[in-house]
Amino acid sequence: MKSTLSFLLVSLFLSVCVAVNGGDPTDGFTPVPLTDKNIVIQKPYNIPLDQRYSFKDGVHRMCVYANDKPHSPSSHTQPRTEIRIKGLDYHSGVWQFEGYGFVPNGTSGATVAQIHGASHGATTAILRIYDGNMRFYSGDLIAKNLYDKWFRLNLIHDVDGGTVTVFIDGEKKYQTNDQGPGDLYFKCGVYAAPAHISYYMESRWRDIKIYKK
Ligand SMILES: *[C@@H]1O[C@H](CO)[C@@H](O)[C@H](O)[C@H]1NC(C)=O
Repeated sequence: MKSTLSFLLVSLFLSVCVAVNGGDPTDGFTPVPLTDKNIVIQKPYNIPLDQRYSFKDGVHRMCVYANDKPHSPSSHTQPRTEIRIKGLDYHSGVWQFEGYGFVPNGTSGATVAQIHGASHGATTAILRIYDGNMRFYSGDLIAKNLYDKWFRLNLIHDVDGGTVTVFIDGEKKYQTNDQGPGDLYFKCGVYAAPAHISYYMESRWRDIKIYKK
């Protein structure tokens, strides 16, 4: 009797916690197997990989300089060193990127994660760090004070419902409409914004996972 009561109280407490926190962003999702083959690095085309990227103790460290070249000689885009999740492009359904990111103080005007592809424009979501704060493109504020600490990012794209949702450290921080379906995939690393960028940009990523519903 006593243990039944304790069980009920614990269950009640846990349900209240879930109701307050909204549960984990990965609840109801299924992990998609991810191997080295799914991790493709894009970096300035004229620079050896090891000068812009390292993988050590499970941490992908990527950096780029404001005056670096684009990722291919024919591209006119801003410089980047990014992981492109390959082989898991999606066109419908509900997909999620999870990873732990770290951005050192000083990196500014850098896209650290994105959803590439859309019906309108090249991208569905661009998460940028400006002065330690994360913004949606150069606009809406998503989260503050992210320099020099690991944060957990969960980025959910509901293609069927047309929404993008951003969680930081398990907390829902932002939701917006997407830009329509397309050939969609996730990226993370550093990709220089069109303006207001620091000379040196770096981000680190670990425990990257892809989920779908
Ligand atoms: C970042 O570095 C600058 C210059 O050293 C310093 O003034 C600032 O307080 C630092 N910010 C954080 C969040 O550590």
